[in-house]
Amino acid sequence: MKRRDFLAGTGLALAAPALVIRRAMAQPLAADFPFSVASGDPTSDAVILWTKLARAADDLTPLSDQAIEVEWIVASDERLTDVVRSGTGIARPELGHSVHVDVEGLQPDRWYWYAFKLGRKMSPIGRTRTLPAARVAASRFRFNVVSCQHWENGYFDVYDGMADDDASFVLHLGDYIYEVGRGGVRAHETKAAPQTLDDYRRRHALYKTDTALRRAHERMPFMVTLDNHDALTDDTDDLARLKLRAAAYQAWYEFQPVRHAPAPSSPTMPILRGRDIGNLMRISIPDTRQFKDSETVCAEGSDKKFAFGVFQKPCAGIETPERSMLGMAQEAWLDERLANSGARWNVIASTVMMTPFDMSHDGDLYRYLQSWDGYPAERARILDRIAGSKVANPVALAGDIHSNLVSNVVRRAGDDPRQALMSEFVGTSISSLWPEPLAKPMQDALPANPHIRYYESQKRGYLRCTVTDDLWTTDLRTIDFTDRAGGTVSTDKSFVVENGEVGIKQV
Ligand SMILES: [Fe+2]
Repeated sequence: MKRRDFLAGTGLALAAPALVIRRAMAQPLAADFPFSVASGDPTSDAVILWTKLARAADDLTPLSDQAIEVEWIVASDERLTDVVRSGTGIARPELGHSVHVDVEGLQPDRWYWYAFKLGRKMSPIGRTRTLPAARVAASRFRFNVVSCQHWENGYFDVYDGMADDDASFVLHLGDYIYEVGRGGVRAHETKAAPQTLDDYRRRHALYKTDTALRRAHERMPFMVTLDNHDALTDDTDDLARLKLRAAAYQAWYEFQPVRHAPAPSSPTMPILRGRDIGNLMRISIPDTRQFKDSETVCAEGSDKKFAFGVFQKPCAGIETPERSMLGMAQEAWLDERLANSGARWNVIASTVMMTPFDMSHDGDLYRYLQSWDGYPAERARILDRIAGSKVANPVALAGDIHSNLVSNVVRRAGDDPRQALMSEFVGTSISSLWPEPLAKPMQDALPANPHIRYYESQKRGYLRCTVTDDLWTTDLRTIDFTDRAGGTVSTDKSFVVENGEVGIKQV
């Protein structure tokens, strides 16, 4: 397709079932692109292009009970002059008229621009990027790491701080939405937690109206994973809760530029991913929520008033070797990726932190058992693999605790930091708060955890990671305020890991 054909608005030329064409032509005025566009899950030759048709961001009334055909175009320039791919995508009613197009046959390590069109209406133009080809020398690679964006806690302007980064993608480690709210600087569309698919859709629609978030999606591809607020993650057999979880996954899929759809009404969502960035970096993004054993195994006997019950007294139950956060299949997958990697840097993006962290409360040992501290045997196996296979430059990335935490990962808190087995950067939240009852016990425990290089809980922001053969640099990018729009992002601190060296250095 030529650019002028795409822009001319004929909507007629493409072969597709007659019914679909007819619906597309019959509906041109009702539907729009209120959530703009997004791209995601890039590989070296493909990327997912996303949009969702609706009347308006706050009007999700079904557009039609039939599928609607949408045209798309990909070009190598921002004016969409040099068209490299084009086609049609199908917005299905059963998936909320969302569109996910897997565009293949692209060149590696390139910027592309894209847009959708419905009848005469054209979407905003988005920009996306493919990854460097696997095993090819990649001299420098930059990406951003984000997590935890509670609408009511603050505005998402942290995303605008990425505008000049020239990052190749955003890695989103989950809590894209929050189901719960207690009020704040802006309100959810309803006080109640979502109870149906339509409720979850409305919640996602609200979050997508944040202008900085939308601009970030237009600017670069995302790789999004799931954490505990995106969908229920409790270990339940209750049918109503499984149904609600399925609804959360479906709405999540409908609003995210991800490759794999959940099976209809399924309470599971395929999100496991691994990527090679040339021969520079191997990144593994396991699913840390859907296959884990219960995180409340030691709740009994812990002081539930202490830090909202988030930190618990470890008990014998967590020490069993078969206890798992990843499940056997994923653990084997990760093991294989670590053992056979030829990459210079090996990243585990894990949502929750790997770092052991001991706290004391009322004379007892407490730990954050929802993190890897609740799955010690499996963590030990991963660290054994890293040590045994001499995995090159292992780096963990996490979110979840709404704090910046920089750590040399040792086997046990109190171990000599020089015996660290990997480096970890936990990125703070886009907007979610980490209140004093959670922050203070961690702050107070720092002397007992000398492997932790840096901890700060009151700043919002993201991690900017720049990777070369010789050096890994993580900039802690933080914003001056999020309680109103218009905050400014700057680099708060920077840390480096040198190739072949154990130990994070501050610069
Ligand atoms: Fe969170």
